Amino acid sequence: MTPSTLAPSTSDSSVQANAGILATIDGDAPSESRPRKSVFSSKLGFVLAAAGSAVGLGNVWRFPYFAATYGGGTFLFAYLLIALTFGIMLLIAEVAIGRATGHGPVAAFRQLDRRFTSVGVLAMLVPAIIFPFYSVIGGWVTRYAFVFLTGGAAAAAETGAFGAFTSQTWGPIGWLAVFILATAVLVARGINKGIERINLITMPIFIVMLLGLAIYTLTLPGGTEGLRHFLLPDFSELSANTFIAATRQSFFSLSLASGVMVAYGSYMKKSASIEKAAFQIGVFDTTASIIAGLLVIPAVVAIMGIDGLGQGAGLLFATLPHVFASMPGGAIVGAIFFVLMLGAAVTSSISMLEVVVNSLMDRAKWSRLKATVVTSVGGFLFGLPVTLGFGVWSNVRLGGRDILGMMNFLTDTVMMPLVGLGTVLVVGWVIGPQRIIAAVHQDGQLFRTEKMFVVLIKWVGPALLTGLVATSFLMAFGVITL
Ligand code: TRP
Repeated sequence: MTPSTLAPSTSDSSVQANAGILATIDGDAPSESRPRKSVFSSKLGFVLAAAGSAVGLGNVWRFPYFAATYGGGTFLFAYLLIALTFGIMLLIAEVAIGRATGHGPVAAFRQLDRRFTSVGVLAMLVPAIIFPFYSVIGGWVTRYAFVFLTGGAAAAAETGAFGAFTSQTWGPIGWLAVFILATAVLVARGINKGIERINLITMPIFIVMLLGLAIYTLTLPGGTEGLRHFLLPDFSELSANTFIAATRQSFFSLSLASGVMVAYGSYMKKSASIEKAAFQIGVFDTTASIIAGLLVIPAVVAIMGIDGLGQGAGLLFATLPHVFASMPGGAIVGAIFFVLMLGAAVTSSISMLEVVVNSLMDRAKWSRLKATVVTSVGGFLFGLPVTLGFGVWSNVRLGGRDILGMMNFLTDTVMMPLVGLGTVLVVGWVIGPQRIIAAVHQDGQLFRTEKMFVVLIKWVGPALLTGLVATSFLMAFGVITL
């Protein structure tokens, strides 16, 4: 390994070596960028933190409502196809970019090719926009955990209870603040300490619990009808829109196209296998989504009938309290469920805040504390319109969407596809896949899916994402509606 010209002042030799691998691509790296100081303390550390980022509300709250909205089994089919092929390959590319450059997204893309610096900047804006609305939903989870812990399970299962809560002004704002504060405290403590430990304990328990609940739900009348809807594709319904929705959801769920995986990759040990880690994370995340779908969709159909599937973002919250109310000991089960869901949500929100905080530390030379305070206060302020959008501002429409819908559109229909496109173009066509493949091979690691990587990053990715970007622009200008 050639010693890095980019690592003037770090004592960690493995980081120096990492930074060297791509240093040859762009020799005159800017002086303000320096490689990461902290490295995950174990090989497992990266997988745990990245899986913690991936598994969250995207799996439990968002995946089931996307599946319900976009055709059940038809959506599931498209989702599996995209997440397990292109999704995992893009994950490999992002982690390898991070590890090889030793930088977060902005400096990493600049080092790959100066003309792609803006891709890194755009990537950073994604978590900055997602964090506020993610925290609003995280606030709902916090509130449900609190309600179940304090004996409010029965009241939560009353018809209309969910809407009555979200349409209030101050309650949801308070819970938003609590959720953001919890995230901020963990980010302020720094990456190794905060993140790794929580994940190791809570994740497996949560997945097993989801599975148990899914099995219980299938015993409810109507549960198997919901199961069929979720699992069986109707190929005559398969359309471009199904694939667009599936791509959007897979990016969101795997925390792709947002700088998160690049930043985490920059902390990864060089002796760990990127390919293995990416498959572990991808398969684990997808399994979590499927299990959540097996729980939520049959529950909705059992409780509200098939028409209940159309209710969008409130799907989980309006349904699960009824499931808990129907089972013996449901109040306790519900309390544990929402506490674990909160844990999964926090490890994801940490990752969003962490990328932004880190880049402010790198570039603006702010202290961790200052960066954390500024970004979390900012996140809170931007969260306000989102939460009000469920109450006093529920009539506000931006380009025909409500406020949450608009932020979703901006991030996963416009910005993330653009970042994804920039990533596959720079890897596939500008620096060439061989550079990234070499980074994956570092220290003699295997790369079994190398051929698949080249085909998907070089050809399939640009085609898929150009289509997505083009469609979203046509949608934004009202030429088409999907
Ligand atoms: N993947 C997380 C989830 O499924 C959400 C998330 C974390 C995320 N970091 C992100 C989404 C960055 C987009 C971008 O809950």
